[in-house]
Amino acid sequence: MMKKTILLVDDEPDIREVLNISLSDIGYKVLTAENGADALNIFKNADIPVVITDIKMPGIDGIELLRKIKHENPETEVIMLTGHGDLDLAIKSLKFEATDFITKPIDDDALELALKRAFEKIATRKKLREYHRNRAMNDILINELIQEDVMIIGADHRVLDINETMLNKLGLEKEEAIGRHCYEITHRQSTPCSGENHQCPLVQTLKTHKSSKETHVHKDKNNNNIYYSISAYPLFENGQVIGAIELSRDITADINARQAMMQQDKLASIGRLSAGVAHEINNPLTTILTSTMLLQEDIAPDDPIQEELETIANETLRCRKIVASLLDFARQTKPAKKHYNINKIVGECIKLTRKQAAFHNLTIVPNLSDDMPTVLMDKDQIQQAVINLILNATDATDSGGTITVSTQFIPQNKVVEIAISDAGKGIPEEKADKIFEPFFTTKDSGTGLGLSITHGIIGQHGGTIDVKSNQSQGTTFTIRLPQSQGKQNGNP
Ligand SMILES: Nc1ncnc2c1ncn2[C@@H]1O[C@H](COP(=O)(O)OP(=O)(O)OP(=O)(O)O)[C@@H](O)[C@H]1O
Ligand SMILES: [Mg+2]
Repeated sequence: MMKKTILLVDDEPDIREVLNISLSDIGYKVLTAENGADALNIFKNADIPVVITDIKMPGIDGIELLRKIKHENPETEVIMLTGHGDLDLAIKSLKFEATDFITKPIDDDALELALKRAFEKIATRKKLREYHRNRAMNDILINELIQEDVMIIGADHRVLDINETMLNKLGLEKEEAIGRHCYEITHRQSTPCSGENHQCPLVQTLKTHKSSKETHVHKDKNNNNIYYSISAYPLFENGQVIGAIELSRDITADINARQAMMQQDKLASIGRLSAGVAHEINNPLTTILTSTMLLQEDIAPDDPIQEELETIANETLRCRKIVASLLDFARQTKPAKKHYNINKIVGECIKLTRKQAAFHNLTIVPNLSDDMPTVLMDKDQIQQAVINLILNATDATDSGGTITVSTQFIPQNKVVEIAISDAGKGIPEEKADKIFEPFFTTKDSGTGLGLSITHGIIGQHGGTIDVKSNQSQGTTFTIRLPQSQGKQNGNP
């Protein structure tokens, strides 16, 4: 440890010498000065926490020196040395915030005690300052910098402290939260969290004395998953874990983005594979189809084999449809984009699907907003996406129903919305995750590629597609596309 420094000021050389020796002996580093002016000089050029000064000195006297030193650095501790009969001066010095005074002849023990007190005072002040600094730092950390939910909880799960962010989310005042069990205020439960999607990180940390992390899965009011990442960091006291600091963060957006990315990756690799296979299969399929047709021509129209040949031809046509979809799905070409009014495109989609809908006794009702900006897009692709959604809606709706296709512009987000709504049978919750996966279908004659293709097209246009479905009210798919910005990149 570094030696503690003292500046000793006295005009009598003997006193300087004797005190220098005795103070050095008990471990202090002693600097000396024989008058006030020298003392001030030394004081200004070194870091001196404690000064011992004689009161009566020629030139600048002890009191004057005390004032100057306190002026220079108020935290310096100054011990006064006084002769007999200087008591009034000594008392005066206390007014100027001298730490202590020692009367001459100097008693070593008394001086040692005074010095000890002076250095203790300095240490306490330092600690207090650190405490306040840490306290302020903690407050800033917990309430300002960490926009996550923070709780300090004891080993008994009771809340010791909680930050503003979390209180706001829970709709509680601090007094209402402190002292209650964490699981009561966060989960409205009467026992600690447990179970597969609800492990308690505190329990883990108490067991291992290490930090721990858990993900909790909750449902929002629309029954979508919300994911919370919760970390607990142990709080130690005398080597024991007495609780933990718990941080929780909503990571739903991250997880969704990751899932979307995985979906994209999967689509891309399936796309590449399918493109290769589809291409190879197309030629033999054409051969099967033409050969079947030739055979049909060769035999009499009333021959019973005609029916089987018809089946072969139809199934081959179906294969070709699947192959065509696969090729669509795998299309690697970039969309050729131009500015279009979305209402015009949607109008054409309705026209193209109207007949098929009427065939099932369904009506398609347009509900198009007048105020639509243009959107930069590949017309054929967007048309294909919208038609896929309309056809799905017609498949899901019983005879006599209606399908609404609406458009809307959301100026705040500069986004154009196309929504396709049906009042059909809805998508069961356990299937909702899968509908955008290639080849997922619940239909006998479906390829399960419609929504994957649609999803891919919208993605290539920088847009999003989402679905809200309810088995009693039906389904709405919403496409969101950014309003036109940037250049066209196809031939007009
Ligand atoms: N509007 C809807 N209502 C209810 N279920 C739907 C709706 N749209 C899609 N689905 C479900 O999603 C599945 C996948 O749809 P997708 O368009 O990808 O394939 P598909 O319609 O089955 O086949 P294809 O598009 O090749 O005819 C459907 O089989 C159906 O179960
Ligand atoms: Mg479909």
